[in-house]
Amino acid sequence: MLWRTSGARTVPQAFPYQGSKRALAGQILSVFPDGGVSRLIEPCAGSAALSVASLYYNQAERVHISDVNGPLMDLWKLIISKPGYLIDQYTRLWNEQRDNSRDFYLETRDKFNATKSPELLLYLLCGCVKAAVRYSKSSDFNQGADHRRLGARPARMTERINAASRICRLPPSARARTKLC
Ligand SMILES: C[S@@+](CC[C@H](N)C(=O)[O-])C[C@H]1O[C@@H](n2cnc3c(N)ncnc32)[C@H](O)[C@@H]1O
Repeated sequence: MLWRTSGARTVPQAFPYQGSKRALAGQILSVFPDGGVSRLIEPCAGSAALSVASLYYNQAERVHISDVNGPLMDLWKLIISKPGYLIDQYTRLWNEQRDNSRDFYLETRDKFNATKSPELLLYLLCGCVKAAVRYSKSSDFNQGADHRRLGARPARMTERINAASRICRLPPSARARTKLC
């Protein structure tokens, strides 16, 4: 099976997110029943590594993702239903940060804490330390910026979002025809 040889890195990842399921996806898929499953439920989904891998390799007909982080779930809704809008917003934020990325990150974090906008969360995830979400007791996002990097360039993010969106939107019959594995 392709996932055994290609490894987890061949599976598109919409955004960076701390966790280990992406690296373990191949091992987890290898214990699925032959032919895959009709429905996969992924709790504590984060970047939904297992759901995306299952769809990518045609090992699940349908997936349900869930996470306690509401804005993260809103981000997934945008990835699936409005990828073009999300890419435009990310591109705008990424370009605006250029002159002073440190201050811009902090301003964006304040705006996110006031609005909980999923497009702002995407920018923060791409620029925060270790792509690790951290919240204060009062539910404010308080992870600092990783000053060594500016986050994925818009062209790269466009590829990532479009790839993940397409995989999630394809109906099972179309996915089977793409013969990914
Ligand atoms: C470290 S991340 C792991 C992400 C992913 N499962 C992976 O391994 O790559 C843990 C995720 O679980 C979510 N989470 C924590 N407690 C939860 C709960 N009680 N119910 C649903 N999601 C929860 C967090 O919001 C976070 O996105």
